[in-house]
Amino acid sequence: MKPPSLLPALLLGALPLQSLSKAILGVDLGSLYMKVALVQRNSPLEIVTNLHSKRKTEQMVLFDQGSRFYGADASSLMARKPHLTPSQMSVLLGRNADHPSVRVLKERHYHFDPQYNETRSGVCLTVDGEEFTPEELVAMVLSHAKDITAAYGVTSPVKDCVLTVPAFYTQHERRAILDAAELAELNVLALINENSAAALHFGIDRNDKDPLHYLFYNMGAGSVQVSVVRYHSYMRKESKFAKEKSVGSFEVLGSGWDATLGGASFDARLVDYMAEEFNKLWNEKRGHTKDVREVPRAMAKLMIQANKIKHVLSANSDFPIFVDALHDDINYQSHISRAKFEEICHDLLDRAAVPIGNALKMANITLEELDAIEMIGGAMRVPKVQEAVQKAVGGMELGMHLNSDESMALGAAFHGANVSTSFKVRHVGMSDVNPFVVAVDLMELEKKDATEEKKKKGLFGKKKDGDDWNKHATIFKIGSKLGGKKTIAFSMDKDVHVQMSYEESETLPEGTGLSIEQYDVAGVAEFAKEMKDKGLDGMPKVSLQFEMSTSGITQLIKAEAVMEETVIVEEEVEVEDEEGNNATDANAESTDDKKEEPKEEKKEEETKSEEANADESKSEDAKTDEAKSEDAAADEKKTDETSDEKKEGDEKKKEEPKKKKTKMVQKEKKKKHTRALKVSIYHMGSVRPYTPAIMAESKAKLDMLAQKDKERMMLEEAKNNYEAYIYYIRNKLSDDEETINKVTSEEQREALLKSAEDAEEWMFDEGFNADLETYQNKYKELSTPAEEAFFRAAELNARPKAIDALTKKLDKVVELMKKWETTMEHITEEERKEVLHKVDEAKAWIEEKVKAQEDADPTSEPVFKSEDVPGQTKKIESIVSKLMKKPKPKPVKNETETEKNETADATDADTKKDENDSSSETADGETTEEKKEDTIEEKKDEATDEKNEGETDEL
Ligand SMILES: *[C@@H]1O[C@H](CO)[C@@H](O)[C@H](O)[C@H]1NC(C)=O
Ligand SMILES: *[C@@H]1O[C@H](CO)[C@@H](O)[C@H](O)[C@H]1NC(C)=O
Ligand SMILES: *[C@@H]1O[C@H](CO)[C@@H](O)[C@H](O)[C@H]1NC(C)=O
Ligand SMILES: *[C@@H]1O[C@H](CO)[C@@H](O)[C@H](O)[C@H]1NC(C)=O
Repeated sequence: MKPPSLLPALLLGALPLQSLSKAILGVDLGSLYMKVALVQRNSPLEIVTNLHSKRKTEQMVLFDQGSRFYGADASSLMARKPHLTPSQMSVLLGRNADHPSVRVLKERHYHFDPQYNETRSGVCLTVDGEEFTPEELVAMVLSHAKDITAAYGVTSPVKDCVLTVPAFYTQHERRAILDAAELAELNVLALINENSAAALHFGIDRNDKDPLHYLFYNMGAGSVQVSVVRYHSYMRKESKFAKEKSVGSFEVLGSGWDATLGGASFDARLVDYMAEEFNKLWNEKRGHTKDVREVPRAMAKLMIQANKIKHVLSANSDFPIFVDALHDDINYQSHISRAKFEEICHDLLDRAAVPIGNALKMANITLEELDAIEMIGGAMRVPKVQEAVQKAVGGMELGMHLNSDESMALGAAFHGANVSTSFKVRHVGMSDVNPFVVAVDLMELEKKDATEEKKKKGLFGKKKDGDDWNKHATIFKIGSKLGGKKTIAFSMDKDVHVQMSYEESETLPEGTGLSIEQYDVAGVAEFAKEMKDKGLDGMPKVSLQFEMSTSGITQLIKAEAVMEETVIVEEEVEVEDEEGNNATDANAESTDDKKEEPKEEKKEEETKSEEANADESKSEDAKTDEAKSEDAAADEKKTDETSDEKKEGDEKKKEEPKKKKTKMVQKEKKKKHTRALKVSIYHMGSVRPYTPAIMAESKAKLDMLAQKDKERMMLEEAKNNYEAYIYYIRNKLSDDEETINKVTSEEQREALLKSAEDAEEWMFDEGFNADLETYQNKYKELSTPAEEAFFRAAELNARPKAIDALTKKLDKVVELMKKWETTMEHITEEERKEVLHKVDEAKAWIEEKVKAQEDADPTSEPVFKSEDVPGQTKKIESIVSKLMKKPKPKPVKNETETEKNETADATDADTKKDENDSSSETADGETTEEKKEDTIEEKKDEATDEKNEGETDEL
């Protein structure tokens, strides 16, 4: 037995770590830039740098002549091809064209006009005549994240990831980004709110005994998000065998935001300011009234300029503007002061601190309870923003301990390691909140259309339509914990229609479609009828369990109908004597309560763990322990119990205490009939998640684009190879002039040079638009005659070298035969003669070939090649090696010893044979030669006595 203290270590060692995923990505898809973080086994948490060695990548795709470009490749061409370069696609996910976040893009001079498409149930962008959904465009960027990770050096394909999302993303947007990830063939372990990811990154090394309240203020390019977070620690066992230890943990208590205020809002103001200035200049000069805002290329230039101004004015008080030939050959020259910037943005700056109040309100804590502030996001560097925040928090110092650009991606990757089963990382407890109200409306499935009508007319739920059954219940409130569950129970004997929707509230973003998901729950009526036929009274109790996952997705996860039957059963009970009877009685009575209750509890637990497994985010762990059950417990109590008949079985029948060991007892028991109900899910509203059909269509479209990209890359490569070969011919002809002149005629050399010249001309003419196959053919055409000439040149040296080596080897064989005359007497003269005969044959071959080559035209194909030469000893070697294995005659010795020797010899011989075979089969010319020499030496070593060792050295 192993000592118990070793067990945990052994168990850890036995985990099949290698078979599980090796790397997890944390992708922070900010509206302008994507940041990718990586967690790998035995490596620190790190940021993946892109193909330009940058730590962030523009969220942008450039479509150019059928292929796509990303990141800096796209952004550097953006100013020239703005209409081909969609950006900020994630802003369009799961939203309608009139959603405030989409509308604000226009204010920010977005180059595209997102249009609603009925078939796709969402907005689309048209790029160069082709329509793309935001899911497709985001999928392209996410695929690019995988590509840069591969280029960064992660060789195994990466599939697992955690994506950050703004806290104000509703289910529509969350579903859409999951669809995008599926298109990109990524497996999303979880979605995580941006600030929560930063808070997690901030909390990795924290372990606060006394709770601390932090406020995270995050002003990014597109929005402001504020979260109130409580850090604390609790005791936790890492495994069954480990000691309890204190782990850091945090809870998001509340969040607030401004979804349309961010760095890009300031940029847009600056662009407008500059556009106005330029218009004045331009219109004066040309005598017309035009607006430079209509000119996409000029606008793209101004946007770049605006971003620069904003950054410089964060540290300086003045910025000189100069844009060379902004438009119509007119330069734009001006300057802007920080005061001016603040003036044109004053209303935006006024909004900067508002979300702080909202977050504190949701968190239900006062300003005084806050312990610290952390600032993140690129746009928080604007001094006036910091001023506004500081004022709003009563002058507290603004902490800037996090890398404001990267903490969210890093936190997301860490979260991935925390929720994945294949990583063992420091556990950090985490819980987040849902900021919206989610409610359900229940109605009879058959009357759903009629009820819908009533709802429209405002009659729904009115007391007077008493014959129509319907119910309304809030299942998740503002501030409820993510990962919580809620069960609704009611008595019903008909099939049910469930509408899950958002309720209007001050937190719900304007323009959000209310309907989340619809369910038709069937099987209730059938079950009720079956029960009635069985003679049971009353209605089945239907229970619907809803979950708000840790990724913020609400779903109906369980639907069942239950009916209880009271049955009288006879039971045999053990009886010992008078006293024992007392004990038995007590036992019997408790069965009704005790047996029933633990059973139910257990069941609940089972379901919970099942659900945790099925949970897309698998993040049961990620919740703090106390957070976990709170809601669930509360929920159970809140279930609609209106018709729950609590029929307690009458206590009855006193058993007569008797003599024998057993007796029959009559007992009332509750038998539970449970039926899982059939649920069909569908979506309503103008913005809906992808259907399988659209998913397939989008996948096919992306595959086709990927194929085109691949072809383009192969064409690029073919072009490069072709061009390189042109230079190769020229260089070779001049560098190796002397040798080449010996094996080529004047005409041949001229032809080669001419072919290179023609090839170059062709490339810049027809070749410019030629396809891959043409390039491959042209390469062959160009390289074949050149390769022949260069080969002859190379052989000029290689042939004599090979012949020389062969001759030496043959001489060695001759020497060996001579030696064998004395050292290997058991080998006959006949046998040695055979070897020497073969040596002569090889020598004759050499003589013949060398002579023929001398007589041949050096500018045409050689008579023989250097690579044919080493093979000439093949036969000789095989004979020699066979001879070496020939057993020596048995010396007159003790019987036993001889036998031992024989066996040893035989084994030796076998091994030798193997070695020999493999070495002579080696294809490569020169190596084989060397190897063979080695082989012969080795053989000799073994074959000769120790006395001969000195001689072998010479060879
Ligand atoms: C909407 O999308 C479908 C499918 O991609 C496309 O065939 C159709 O042309 C689009 N409709 C409009 C009005 O653009
Ligand atoms: C907010 O906090 C106060 C004091 O901690 C408490 O009395 C009150 O019930 C809380 N309000 C809500 C809505 O939780
Ligand atoms: C009945 O059983 C209980 C528990 O076994 C015991 O404490 C009690 O004294 C018993 N009563 C009588 C009257 O025997
Ligand atoms: C036979 O073997 C024995 C013991 O190994 C040895 O002493 C003896 O000399 C051997 N005889 C011959 C003839 O080699």
